[in-house]
Amino acid sequence: MARVLSGIQPSGDLHLGNYLGALRQWVQNQDRDDAYYCIVDLHALTQAIDPDELRRRTLETAAGFIAAGLDPEKVTMFVQSHVVAHTRLAWLLECTASMGELNRMTQFKDKGRGNDAVKVGLFTYPVLMAADILAYDADLVPVGEDQRQHIELTRDLANRFNFQYGDVLVVPEATIPAVGARVMDLQQPDRKMSKSIPSPLGRIDLFESAEDTMKKVKKAVTDTGDDVTYDPDGRPGVSNLLDLLAAATGGSPATLATNYTRFGDLKADVGTALVEMLAPLRARYTELMSDPSELTAVLRKGAEKASIVADATYDRAAAAMGLLAP
Ligand code: AMP
Ligand code: TRP
Repeated sequence: MARVLSGIQPSGDLHLGNYLGALRQWVQNQDRDDAYYCIVDLHALTQAIDPDELRRRTLETAAGFIAAGLDPEKVTMFVQSHVVAHTRLAWLLECTASMGELNRMTQFKDKGRGNDAVKVGLFTYPVLMAADILAYDADLVPVGEDQRQHIELTRDLANRFNFQYGDVLVVPEATIPAVGARVMDLQQPDRKMSKSIPSPLGRIDLFESAEDTMKKVKKAVTDTGDDVTYDPDGRPGVSNLLDLLAAATGGSPATLATNYTRFGDLKADVGTALVEMLAPLRARYTELMSDPSELTAVLRKGAEKASIVADATYDRAAAAMGLLAP
């Protein structure tokens, strides 16, 4: 059984990119894996977020995990800040990571480099993420394409730690889905769909109404010219729609393209396919949010189980580095 860990920030509504890039593969493999899925609230603190909103979104994200199909009896679901070993291990790893390698992280380059007011937490974000993963001896980390560089850093940190202190950490691998690994914004198809871009028309939220989804797909920006061809670099708008159709119905985007001569027909089919895929998720979500006490119980149990694994890894790493056992 492979040990698996992944996480999602509770910084906004779960969207189609989160589902196709991450959540859907979590659900597909839950019978096969020994999996830990966390709501990474500490990572969400690296962006300005209102405290009440963070609390609310943390619960909503938990409901979203289950609504997407995760079964808390099969996987361990928890909130990152409830398991103290994450931050403790992150400190140990910060003492092995270099400024240079963190400076090369594209997320930091895009969001903060060169700005003196940027928070230290944004800079060390990837080390906390490495701790999330390494604390569970994870073999696999199912994520979208945008996380590839972070997983590479995690591997580097683990290898370096093992070289210096002995064989303590498991070196993980990213698993990135073949379709849906990089869902683009429907209004700006050169940018990934994201919680942090204020793009109400560009982002499909997982639990929005069918009407909203249809409307957004209909208004999606397509490319100049009117032929339907799959060319992600040259024609990112149409290609994103073809990717979505492929992700929702199966098949390859290039083959699906040959069925269409008009954008309008393609958009109608993409809209319908997405609505059909998401309708059962939305129904479960509404039900779950009507009784948050059940969610809180799931998260408490999850944190207890997660702590046992993560504490043991922390203890091993701390001992290897020479910290005196209490
Ligand atoms: P985040 O919303 O940044 O916490 O991302 C949580 C997970 O969703 C990660 O595994 C990301 O790689 C994945 N993800 C986020 N945005 C997208 C996107 N636009 N396309 C595919 N995967 C995504
Ligand atoms: N950085 C990830 C993102 O923005 C979220 C994350 C934090 C994560 N810790 C993780 C993903 C551990 C996988 C494993 O999407």
